[in-house]
Amino acid sequence: MKPIYILGISAFYHDSASCLLEDDKIISAVQEERFTRTKHDPSFPINSIKFCLDYANLTPDKLDYIVFYEKPFIKFERLLETHFLHAPKSLIQFVQSMPLWLKERILIKNIIKKEIEEKLNEKLSPNTKILFCPHHLSHASSAFFPSLFEKASILTIDGVGEWATATLGFGNKNKINFFYELKFPSSVGLLYSSFTYYTGFKVNDGEYKLMGLAPYGNPHSEKTKRYIKTIKEKLIEIKEDGSIKLNMDYFAFNTSFKMVNEKEWIETFGIPPRKPESKILTEYADMAYAIQNVLEEILIKMAKFLKEITKEKYLVIGGGVGLNCVANSKLLKEKIFEDIWVQPAATDAGGAVGAAYAVYHMYLGKERICNGKDKMEGCFLGPEYNSYEIEKTLKKYDNLQFYKEENQDKLCNLIAKLINEKKIIGWFSGRMEFGPRALGARSILADARDPEMQKKLNLKIKFREGFRPFAPSVLWEDTQEYFEWDRPSPYMLFTAPVKENRRKNIPEDYYEWDIKDKLYFIRSDVPAITHIDFSARLQTVHKETNYKFWNLIKTFKELTGYSIIINTSFNVRGEPIVCTPEDAIKCFLKTEMDCLVMEDFIIFKKDKKEK
Ligand SMILES: [Fe+2]
Repeated sequence: MKPIYILGISAFYHDSASCLLEDDKIISAVQEERFTRTKHDPSFPINSIKFCLDYANLTPDKLDYIVFYEKPFIKFERLLETHFLHAPKSLIQFVQSMPLWLKERILIKNIIKKEIEEKLNEKLSPNTKILFCPHHLSHASSAFFPSLFEKASILTIDGVGEWATATLGFGNKNKINFFYELKFPSSVGLLYSSFTYYTGFKVNDGEYKLMGLAPYGNPHSEKTKRYIKTIKEKLIEIKEDGSIKLNMDYFAFNTSFKMVNEKEWIETFGIPPRKPESKILTEYADMAYAIQNVLEEILIKMAKFLKEITKEKYLVIGGGVGLNCVANSKLLKEKIFEDIWVQPAATDAGGAVGAAYAVYHMYLGKERICNGKDKMEGCFLGPEYNSYEIEKTLKKYDNLQFYKEENQDKLCNLIAKLINEKKIIGWFSGRMEFGPRALGARSILADARDPEMQKKLNLKIKFREGFRPFAPSVLWEDTQEYFEWDRPSPYMLFTAPVKENRRKNIPEDYYEWDIKDKLYFIRSDVPAITHIDFSARLQTVHKETNYKFWNLIKTFKELTGYSIIINTSFNVRGEPIVCTPEDAIKCFLKTEMDCLVMEDFIIFKKDKKEK
């Protein structure tokens, strides 16, 4: 029988992406930023669509359905209604955003048709249907349909879609039903983003930095306690079912392009917003701790309420807040649900996957088959490059020397040896990851045992804040040697405690230390991946799904006794993860990375060739 081809698209907010389904199989999925090299690119994902079609060897007229991940008219209605409620305060925001909406965004159907036909120079078929999927159904669908579970409770939670900012639902076979919706402006995502802004990070980008900063806060300090109390008493009201109500005297995102009413915050918290890039004072770490703590309380309440209603064993999560791996682990620890699966591209990029699945299972009513595996293919859903393409690119650079090593065991031996010698490796292998995490296809690798490595990687390779932790990749079969953790975590969506016997004691005066001094505190025998609270955002690496990467770590274990390495995304600060060999070479050359592996090629900078 002829397969059904469905193209899912998310665009115009942040993390534009597209995804191609052939029946219920994801053929490809990729964010537009990887091609345009603009981080979180919100523009129409024409490059991504082109890749998805080319990869499947399809022309646009072969698409049966194209589906956009939200309903623009309802979103437009929200903007209008919010404006009229708050006029004239909202006038500037209204005047600036309306032309874009009236000119193009509301006419998405036309844009989709025009962009594809003009830019790809091919006609869509008159039979290709263009559909729209509600924003939070796209998130829910992205979390449930590709998951391992036949039935599950569903939690979606983000900044805002059309009106919804969170939903509670239930998925069973090929159906999703919602029974609760939290509406704008009450938004857990926007609450967290407000603190992202106030602690000096970029909204819709720096949320994970805020999460990483939180454990540097002192849970016992008077300030931290006061911040938590203030958030809960003044900024929001948290109800028993986990729903929240924001006190809009403190927030500005509904009437302007600002997140918060700064005057109110300064008066209430007693500190001004931190200037981006300025020194991080302990107050801001305490504030990060406070909001993370409140977020976790809200999520736990939501999850308990959800469990009470659905009585289901499993939970799936979609929407940007799902990337808060610390909160995900707290939820798991509460044992409200036996297991949790989070869509790895939980932000709006994943909406492209969800919208496509919603068409297949819900619009077309096609059966959903669960075979004990998730359908994300390890997230290896992007472009890949063969030896010929790589060599052709390498030859353009006269400051590189390289050779081909087709014997994988020899290649792994050499790279394991270099990692053991504290060298930093760019690792480019197979199809690029979909979603924000590098999982062994576009990764930078290094030795987790080196106490200097966190600082070295942050400052000399990634050019980012020194406090930020690195994630470990560990052989799945050895996970329990390093972590108190008992289940696969192939997508780095959970944090796990490093085993007690690997930890170093916390000095008594530890909480008096400056954040900068805390960086030098050696926390375990794998210090570079052990965060300040002894947690790590782990990736379990499985032989069956990620063989080449697994083989490298196994070789490292044979050499050193350690089956764990640092795995951080192959990019520098402010840039998207590398996609092409050219991107990888450029990133390699502008950092102090020691060696680059691209498929069978081992590459060094000319002046630094290894013997
Ligand atoms: Fe969203």
